[in-house]
Amino acid sequence: MESSVAHTGDQDRQRKSRTSPWPRYDEAALGFRNYWYPAMMSHKLRGRPVAIQILGEKLLFVRYQGKCFALEDRCAHRGIPLSVGRCEFPGTNTITCRYHGWTFDVANGNCVAALTDGPDSPIVGKAKVKTYPADERKGLIWVFIGDGEPPPLQEDVPEELLSSDAITGIRVTLRDGNWRLAAENGLDPSHAAYLHRNAWVTLFRKFPAAKTNVAPQIAGPWVGYSQSAPIMEGNYPRLGIWPIGEWWKMPRKGSPTKTQLRLPGFLRVDPFPTAGIVHFEWYVPVDERHHRYFQFSVKWTSGLKALRFRLAYWLWWRWLAHVQFNGQDAWMVKLMDPFYSEQDGWKRERLYRPDIGLTAWRKHCQENARQVQRIAVEDEGYRADLL
Ligand code: FES
Repeated sequence: MESSVAHTGDQDRQRKSRTSPWPRYDEAALGFRNYWYPAMMSHKLRGRPVAIQILGEKLLFVRYQGKCFALEDRCAHRGIPLSVGRCEFPGTNTITCRYHGWTFDVANGNCVAALTDGPDSPIVGKAKVKTYPADERKGLIWVFIGDGEPPPLQEDVPEELLSSDAITGIRVTLRDGNWRLAAENGLDPSHAAYLHRNAWVTLFRKFPAAKTNVAPQIAGPWVGYSQSAPIMEGNYPRLGIWPIGEWWKMPRKGSPTKTQLRLPGFLRVDPFPTAGIVHFEWYVPVDERHHRYFQFSVKWTSGLKALRFRLAYWLWWRWLAHVQFNGQDAWMVKLMDPFYSEQDGWKRERLYRPDIGLTAWRKHCQENARQVQRIAVEDEGYRADLL
C-alpha cells in the first residue's frame, strides 16, 4: 500500500514538473484572437438584436437598413446588455440602453445621446462601446475578434468556401466541451475506426481495424497526416481476431479521405460523407467549456445539380452526417471535457502512436497562432469626468 502511494506521489511530481512543449496552446482555453470567425446564420438576424458570446467576449449583432453591425454587449454606463435595448430613432444606426437611455451609434460605438440627461448631456462624445468588424458571406455573419485593422476575410476563410458556386448546407449548434477537444477530435486519425464504425451513414462500409504509420503532414496553413495501408483485420495477442462478423460491409472505394485542420480551429474533410462532397467544420470558442460548432457540406456546382444537392442535403446528408455521425463526436467531446477542464487532463493524458497528428497540431498552434485570447477588463475612466 505504502509503495503504491509513494509511486503515485512520484507520478504526480513528474507530471507537475513536466514542461509543456506548447504552452501557448495550453493557455488558449478561449481560443486565438486576431482571426475572423463565423458568428451566426445571416437569416437569424432580423429586426431584433442578437447576443452571442465568442472567445469569452459578449457581442451584440444588429441589422439596420440591411447592414449588419457587431458591438460589445455592455452599456458603457452600468453594464446592462445592450441586446435588451431598442432603436428609439428609426432610420438612424443607433441602439438605446433599456436602463437610462444612453444611446450608441452602432457603426463606431460612440455615445450620441443620454436621453435621461437631456439633449445637452456632457457624456455625449465621451463614452463609447467597442465595435467589431463584421461581414456577411455565404449565408453567414463573420466577425473579426482582435485588435487593429483586420486582414481580408479570404485570408482566414478559404476562397473555395466563399466562391459563388460553392453550394453549402450548414448546421450550427452549441456544444459542450472546450474547443481544443473538438478540434483535436476532428483531426484524430484513429477514432473513426472505432467510434463511427456503426454510424448510420457508414453502416455498410468496412472500416479498418487500425491505421498504420500515421505521420504528420503540413501543407501551408493545414495540418494533416499521411498513413500506410491500414490493417483491415488484426490478430491481437491473447485475444484473437477483430473485427469479425461484418460480412455485410464493403471496403470504401476511391481515394482515401483527406482530413486537415488549420488555425484558428477549422477542419476540412475531403470527401465526406460521400464522393463529391467536402465537409468543413469550425469550432468557435464560446467560453472555456463550450464551443459553437459550424458544419458545412459543400459541393461546387450550379443549376439543376445545385438544386439536387440542396435537396439531398436536407433529405438525408444533414441527418446522417451532421446530426448522427458528428453527434457521436459531440458525445465524446462532452465526456472528455471534465477530465481536461477539472482534472488536469492536459498533463495527465497518455498519448499513443496515432496521436502524432494531434501533437503536430498543438506544435503548429504554438508556433503559428496570432495571439492567445485572454479576457482583459478595460478601464475606460469615464467616472473621473463626472466627479
Ligand atoms: Fe445603460 Fe444606464 S446602464 S443607460
